[in-house]
Amino acid sequence: MNEKQRKATTLVNPSDKKSEKDYSKYFERIYMPPSLKDAKKRGKEEVKYHKDFEIPEQFKGMGNGRNFYIRTYGCQMNEHDTEVMAGIFMALGYEPTDRPEDANVILLNTCAIRENAENKVFGEIGHLKPLKMENPDLLLGVCGCMSQEESVVNKILKQYQYVDMIFGTHNIHRLPHILNEAYMSKEMVVEVWSKEGDVIENLPKVRKGNIKAWVNIMYGCDKFCTYCIVPYTRGKERSRRPEDIIQEVRHLAAQGYQEITLLGQNVNAYGKDFEDMEYGLGDLMDELRNIDIPRIRFTTSHPRDFDDRLIEVLAKRGNLVEHIHLPVQSGSSDILKIMARKYTREQYLELVRKIKEAIPDVALTTDIIVGFPNETEEQFEETLSLYREVEFDSAYTFIYSPREGTPAAKMKDNVPMEVKKERLQRLNNLVNEISAKKMKEYEGKIVEVLVEGESKNNPDILAGYTRKNKLVNFRGPKSAIGQLVKVKITKAKTWTLDGEMVEEAVEVN
Ligand code: 5AD
Ligand code: SF4
Repeated sequence: MNEKQRKATTLVNPSDKKSEKDYSKYFERIYMPPSLKDAKKRGKEEVKYHKDFEIPEQFKGMGNGRNFYIRTYGCQMNEHDTEVMAGIFMALGYEPTDRPEDANVILLNTCAIRENAENKVFGEIGHLKPLKMENPDLLLGVCGCMSQEESVVNKILKQYQYVDMIFGTHNIHRLPHILNEAYMSKEMVVEVWSKEGDVIENLPKVRKGNIKAWVNIMYGCDKFCTYCIVPYTRGKERSRRPEDIIQEVRHLAAQGYQEITLLGQNVNAYGKDFEDMEYGLGDLMDELRNIDIPRIRFTTSHPRDFDDRLIEVLAKRGNLVEHIHLPVQSGSSDILKIMARKYTREQYLELVRKIKEAIPDVALTTDIIVGFPNETEEQFEETLSLYREVEFDSAYTFIYSPREGTPAAKMKDNVPMEVKKERLQRLNNLVNEISAKKMKEYEGKIVEVLVEGESKNNPDILAGYTRKNKLVNFRGPKSAIGQLVKVKITKAKTWTLDGEMVEEAVEVN
């Protein structure tokens, strides 16, 4: 970060007391690029909670007669950020459109987790060029995790000069200002704070659907697994206050939502940053389970921070579902060590044993990376044997992708790509085999399904998910949409279940 950028950051950083309300100097600079080096720093500064988000008076009506379109890549955190940005657009008077050609503002909410995710976005920016050329009034913006990377911002500045705005994951609440600046300026507006440690409450949201909802419980990640870009793109761990989360969930329950997913990059670290109290995810779940909402999930877990208190609370069941996504990444203690996962194969297996003891029918799913630098055949086989031992219900599997700025990207790697691909194939075969076997056990059983809508391929068929997150397709009345119904499973496939509804929709609220 150079001196000019440092000054720019201090000028607008809302966590800086002196500049809290003084944004006047802000518009002197519109170029504020990210710095990976800065993003890595974890200071001792307290998390500040801003509860007074409002659309500034001068921007109200900015979107009247204009449409917005947001394309979202990546994880649920990004999906939820899109809901917040949609909320801000609507509060500004914009209308949503699902056709980019009808939009006055197009945003790409991007994902940086692997290289192919990034390549897709660059491809899309290229595809949007003709639209932008045809309609110079169109604003084109890039936001989300890729915007937090220096190399990406530099590439856009150089190769995609028709992009109007780049803003980062910490700058979402600044959207009205950024849009205004983009309308006023001929230059590309770049506003990316590298390290922001605040929590902004009361942001407007337009949720996708009225059956399931996401609720952020914390932001950021301090784990710094050596392959992962997230701690750089999402900043330090900071938890929302329990009372704000409980209020949001209560409100969603009152609105008739049936399922909540609590979101965070490492939800098990929830509450660790509170200085005034000892309060963790287990405590939060114990309070949330008293709210009248049929299902509560959370994602994503880190095995290292998964404590006994949480297991004890999850074992109370009720609206806490019997499904835990517990990324293992590798079955080899040596690889886990170089990944800086901070647990061994044995510790992971011990955690699984404890969870299964408390919740015997629990469904466990996981994330696995194959082909980490220098992974040997034996180490890979340890991943296969761990998978077999745990008998995961399913897994997201990935080939390791080097991310610039992370420690693993600097490691020499002696594993050829063909070997990585072959390992992925072998792992996927095992994942499919075990999934098919576990799905078969459902045949003839009755499950509770939260009906989400018509099946994608056949409008006569309804589709929904069980508590353990299995997709079920079945014939039933449209009135069942949004309800919890009982379905008898008639046929198991590798990834989905077919069934018949065995009773009319039950009113759950
Ligand atoms: N390469 C491949 N997979 C990755 N993941 C995170 N970073 C990388 C990377 N550099 C995977 C991990 C994580 C999931 C969200 O993405 O498995 O749990
Ligand atoms: Fe990335 Fe998850 Fe590790 Fe955090 S805990 S660094 S988000 S893999």
